[in-house]
Amino acid sequence: MPDQPLAIPTPSRTHPQAAAVDEPAVVTWAEGGHSRTARWRSANGRPAPARVEVVTDSLTADEANRLASQGTAMLWQGDFHNARQILNALDRRVGAGKKKAAPTPADEFYRHRQSRSHRARILGLLLIPLDPGPVVPLRRAPDIRQAAEEAYGDIGEPSVVSLHELVGAIGAHEWRKNGVYVEALQGRIHPHYGTFFPTRSEYVDLVAAAPLPSDRLAFDVGTGTGVLAAVLARRGVRRVVATDNEPRAIACAGENFRNLGVQDRAEAVLTDMFPPGRAPLIVCNPPWIPATPHSSLDNAVYDPGSRMLFRFLNELAEHLEPGGEGWLVLSDLAEHLGLRSRDDLLGAIEAAGLKVLERSGTKPTHPKASDRNDPLFGARSAEVTSLWRLVPR
Ligand SMILES: C[S@@+](CC[C@H](N)C(=O)[O-])C[C@H]1O[C@@H](n2cnc3c(N)ncnc32)[C@H](O)[C@@H]1O
Repeated sequence: MPDQPLAIPTPSRTHPQAAAVDEPAVVTWAEGGHSRTARWRSANGRPAPARVEVVTDSLTADEANRLASQGTAMLWQGDFHNARQILNALDRRVGAGKKKAAPTPADEFYRHRQSRSHRARILGLLLIPLDPGPVVPLRRAPDIRQAAEEAYGDIGEPSVVSLHELVGAIGAHEWRKNGVYVEALQGRIHPHYGTFFPTRSEYVDLVAAAPLPSDRLAFDVGTGTGVLAAVLARRGVRRVVATDNEPRAIACAGENFRNLGVQDRAEAVLTDMFPPGRAPLIVCNPPWIPATPHSSLDNAVYDPGSRMLFRFLNELAEHLEPGGEGWLVLSDLAEHLGLRSRDDLLGAIEAAGLKVLERSGTKPTHPKASDRNDPLFGARSAEVTSLWRLVPR
């Protein structure tokens, strides 16, 4: 699965127990003998750091590493490029050291996630100011206006953000501007910050190739960028209702439908799981890995307890028209990692009163599947992505 984020800014607080429910999160630090405060912003729901020290260009990488190891956040007040260098130096130190192989694929997976989460925590401790504009009021800061607006929305007051997160927002802005070419659409999908990037084509191709049970109406549950809904509309389905429970995904899917010229056929609706009514075709590509999200960016990739997958299966029959089909898009990576078994999946399909009409599978071709240095290479190299055509029994 690409390590792609889904982000919604969730207000977080330095002292949650003391804060009123709708009070914005702040960071506080000492400067020139005075206590200073600014609004804390995190586009992926990271909590405000509790301990903040002002640092300048004289900070060495070793000192930054020591402060970060103690959990102290560093508010940068020097040159922007120097801050980037300190961030890179922290990154090299956090990733250093060889690890022995874990005893099972599941242990390897949990260790891999733990180290990614530790890295995100450490790198997230280098902070920079973000002023209305939005601008970074530091020497040699680049123009980040559009990237910051896309990730944080309107910056109405002096704020503080994590430099690592802002760098991610700049990268996401480039993806949004350039788009991802999708063969099945003969066109580009432009992912917004925090939506699931369709960088893997194999699952999209499965939806492009399966025989349509009807061209009248389809639902796409958990639409993300809207890629699967757009494929169905391009295949001739006259009305596609695409849902997501993330406002960013809905804005993104709507924009992609307009860009691709399918806005008369496809609409994006903010809702939990299924839209009202029934359809002859319901497609769902839930997050593939049953694990706890560590930040709101993880929500499109990790599905704790396979909650979305099992809800889709359990509620499918009551949303299908007679003779209709549900298309479940799912990789078996979780099975190779020992996180969910094939029997769990088949048992859930049976318990939901469904049967499998057909399963088409394909091997992913993304670079990680053949990267022997990837800690999850064993599982990734065996992975098969499937489209399960399901009907009520
Ligand atoms: C793996 S992504 C798939 C996105 C897109 N369909 C694709 O194939 O690229 C799963 C999507 O389901 C959405 N989602 C998660 N829980 C949901 C829920 N309860 N109701 C609607 N959408 C949900 C996530 O926001 C995310 O966009």
